[in-house]
Amino acid sequence: MRLCGFLICLSLIGLYFSVAEGVIGVNWGTMAIHPLPPKIVVQMLLDNGIKKVKLFDADENTMKALAGSDIEVMVAIPNNMLAIMNDYDSAKQWVDRNVSRYMFEGGVNIKFVAVGNEPFLAAYNGSFINTTFPALQNIQNAINEAGFGSTIKATVPLNADVYNSPASNPVPSAGRFRADISDIMDQMVHFFKQNNASFTVNIYPFLSLYANKDFPFDYAFFEGTSKPVVDNGIQYTNVFDANFDTLVSALKAAGVPDLPIIIGEVGWPTDGDINGNVGYAERFYNGLLPRLARKQGTPLRPNVDIDVYLFGLIDEDAKSIDPGNFERHWGIFRYDGQPKFPMDLSGQQPPSNLLVAAKNVKYLPQKWCAFNPEANNLDKLPDNINFACTFSDCTALGYGSSCNGLDTNGNASYAFNMYFQSQGQNELSCGFQGLGMVTTQNQSTDKCSFIIQIDSPASFPASARLFFVMLSFILLVVLMF
Ligand SMILES: *[C@@H]1O[C@H](CO)[C@@H](O)[C@H](O)[C@H]1NC(C)=O
Ligand SMILES: *[C@@H]1O[C@H](CO)[C@@H](O)[C@H](O)[C@H]1NC(C)=O
Ligand SMILES: *[C@@H]1O[C@H](CO)[C@@H](O)[C@H](O)[C@H]1NC(C)=O
Ligand SMILES: *[C@@H]1O[C@H](CO)[C@@H](O)[C@H](O)[C@H]1NC(C)=O
Ligand SMILES: *[C@@H]1O[C@H](CO)[C@@H](O)[C@H](O)[C@H]1NC(C)=O
Ligand SMILES: *[C@@H]1O[C@H](CO)[C@@H](O)[C@H](O)[C@H]1NC(C)=O
Repeated sequence: MRLCGFLICLSLIGLYFSVAEGVIGVNWGTMAIHPLPPKIVVQMLLDNGIKKVKLFDADENTMKALAGSDIEVMVAIPNNMLAIMNDYDSAKQWVDRNVSRYMFEGGVNIKFVAVGNEPFLAAYNGSFINTTFPALQNIQNAINEAGFGSTIKATVPLNADVYNSPASNPVPSAGRFRADISDIMDQMVHFFKQNNASFTVNIYPFLSLYANKDFPFDYAFFEGTSKPVVDNGIQYTNVFDANFDTLVSALKAAGVPDLPIIIGEVGWPTDGDINGNVGYAERFYNGLLPRLARKQGTPLRPNVDIDVYLFGLIDEDAKSIDPGNFERHWGIFRYDGQPKFPMDLSGQQPPSNLLVAAKNVKYLPQKWCAFNPEANNLDKLPDNINFACTFSDCTALGYGSSCNGLDTNGNASYAFNMYFQSQGQNELSCGFQGLGMVTTQNQSTDKCSFIIQIDSPASFPASARLFFVMLSFILLVVLMF
């Protein structure tokens, strides 16, 4: 009797965890100067019960590390390859090399192929408008022809700027696809439906707040707002629900009201902006994760288990900062696989099943590059700081960021160290015309971390590194005269 009860209890616990853990996926981007080795990352995913991952390519080393892990994978075709995929034979070859190749017992559990990444983003000026849909068709057809059509679906991760509601009536129920792409969107969503595929959208309350100084602050989070948006008797108290339901309305208007929706990216950055910090990120996730765990859905799609990929897994210090300094700080883990704050992906409140750090991470020696207080050619300081920050990540120095409070010397030390670490602590990279010196003194403050980089090969190919070294040399020579 007791044993039986115990077993039932065990299997119920097992069932609970298999459901709770299945919900959350993560985006694994690799645009870092020293990326964590893929094997370490995969072990970190497994240690944290993360069973779904979305990639931005189909890199061979990443795929090999994922093989045998059973983690569900979304592989991706970058935007600059969309035009090539307009040729069916090229699409077939891509599927052959990057999908079929891994479909064996103990291979990679590929579930989705992302065709492009936000290709209709207004900032791209329509560059990918004509090539995205034909690429999607060719890729899905090639997957079908290869015999994997019932388990692998092509999709297109789109920014939420593909739909809107009119300025005159900005409510979710008025949601429609953007006028300049509405024909393509109509064709695309019907193609998804025919193939039992899903619509993938990236939703960023942080960016709504960032883009609009008048955006009501609490509407970006989940604890309610004094000024809800009222739409046909529904009260929207957070922009996440309102944004999602604007898409639901656009799909309904396009004639596919039940098309499944995947949230390809959602998250909050922890640095690089006045609203990008650990406190707000924690507040955002503490609102989001329990809702997802409850399968609460949204007012127009209640009680659904939304497929979600958090953005992102690890900070990426080589990303473009065109969108803003925060762009390099979206990770729920730091560059070295340390969790940034206590977080429970299964959505339990208070958080109890906390993220654990990556194991077996190798660091460079405990050495920093710092400003040499005895240096006297201070007129050369701005150019040297500028140089260091051009080739490494100084985004934490900016307004509202974690290292913004440093004094002038602290600024210089921070910049010099970031460059020194990015160069694998090569002594020559701490010269800065006599302004830099190597030290074993940790200059970190409570808020501002002077990092030691991990000991992994830089992601730039050797030729690019040589180019950087030569460029550094030329710049230094130029600066000297
Ligand atoms: C597809 O596979 C080829 C061959 O392994 C590889 O060179 C290429 O980078 C892969 N494509 C993508 C988008 O990752
Ligand atoms: C889009 O157009 C703007 C203004 O014409 C230009 O500054 C920008 O570089 C263009 N972007 C792309 C990706 O072509
Ligand atoms: C896309 O096709 C339309 C219609 O053929 C054409 O007017 C437009 O210039 C094309 N856009 C690009 C970026 O090639
Ligand atoms: C889509 O799902 C329906 C219902 O489950 C099924 O009959 C149909 O064959 C599926 N089509 C494809 C292309 O997977
Ligand atoms: C340090 O650098 C940041 C970013 O460039 C700048 O905003 C700040 O004013 C600097 N602080 C001092 C004391 O120079
Ligand atoms: C440097 O100091 C900071 C803050 O005290 C600490 O968190 C960090 O671990 C230290 N770094 C090393 C490499 O010891």
